[in-house]
Amino acid sequence: MNILRFSDLCAQGQARGQRVFIRADLNVPLDGQGRITEDTRIRASVPCIQMALDAGAAVMVTSHLGRPTEGEFKPEDSLAAVAQRLSELLGRPVPLLAHWVDGVQVQPGEVVLLENCRANVGEKKNSEALARKLATLCDIFVNDAFGTAHRAEGTTYGIAQYAPIACAGPLLAAEIDALTQALAHPKRPLVAIVAGSKVSTKLTILQSLAKNVDRLIVGGGIANTFMLAAGLPIGKSLAEPGLVAEARAVIDAMKARGAAVPIPTDVVTAKAFAADAVATVKAATAVEEDDLILDIGPDTAARLAAQLKSAGTIVWNGPVGVFEFPAFDNGTRTLAHAIAESEAFSIAGGGDTLAAIAKYGIEKQVGYISTGGGAFLEVLEGKQLPAFEILEKRAAAGG
Ligand code: 3PG
Repeated sequence: MNILRFSDLCAQGQARGQRVFIRADLNVPLDGQGRITEDTRIRASVPCIQMALDAGAAVMVTSHLGRPTEGEFKPEDSLAAVAQRLSELLGRPVPLLAHWVDGVQVQPGEVVLLENCRANVGEKKNSEALARKLATLCDIFVNDAFGTAHRAEGTTYGIAQYAPIACAGPLLAAEIDALTQALAHPKRPLVAIVAGSKVSTKLTILQSLAKNVDRLIVGGGIANTFMLAAGLPIGKSLAEPGLVAEARAVIDAMKARGAAVPIPTDVVTAKAFAADAVATVKAATAVEEDDLILDIGPDTAARLAAQLKSAGTIVWNGPVGVFEFPAFDNGTRTLAHAIAESEAFSIAGGGDTLAAIAKYGIEKQVGYISTGGGAFLEVLEGKQLPAFEILEKRAAAGG
């Protein structure tokens, strides 16, 4: 992807003394007391901010937090806890500025955090008036918010249209590079794991990947619908019978390309959805009417693990069983370890997937862990994200 990179501008000394506006994604979960419960996105945003400071820029950073009502800022919308955490991570004060759209005071070598950008009127609809105002705040606009790259909002798109220079920060660039390596120029075989409770929420992803991947491993409720499409019994398992035809079409499209959707040959069932339910391994053909399929069986897991180990590239989104219950986590654990041991370049994304990666302690063995939720899924759907589109447009126009 041809985009301008902030790291290159810094290396060329072009950020020195400049007003740099960084759009980060600091949208982290908070508990009932407003304390941060998971700070990955803040830590992932630090390198860009540090890069700008080291380059001698006057640095402004903003993000959304949640989905506030524009023009009605409430205390729970505040980035105060984020400012505090950023300050700890950067080892310097990070003042939090409210009402910043009409002007920001910040000196070279300093950083300020601009209060929740989604509270500004016109942000979500990307109003031209707001976008033009935002653009006057800076000399260089840096988009480092991959988690929000699928939104065309004032601080993700509009400002990039009008800022003197618009470029990608190191986190956004790393995400682009990893996704390009995985999907546009993959080392083959390319294996994707798409799992989750419903086919309907990931149908476009399945359809898009069916045109590209060599193996499409399905899991969870999605696999149940595919098992139905393959004529297998699934008892009272979660599935969407209304989408069997679509699942069949995905299987056929893969077959027509010489690729495959491996259907489970054995499964782990229970009579109830509970952590202490008795787990029974059985052949996929032997599922009873009152059975719930809660995991893939050990033979299927071993077969898929072998495919992952010999893959060239792996894209992982979703656990293949109810991995929160130890009796039903063998499938997800086996695949996670296979990904970790595989020579393949692997990329993983999505909340449940990140939780599985953390549970099995394989963070360091996954090639790239995306910070995007919805944005990651939209890339898998084959969509061009607005944040990438405008940066490419600007680069093509010379800056
Ligand atoms: C996310 O949490 O996925 C991103 O921060 C985007 O948030 P949004 O769905 O509210 O735009």
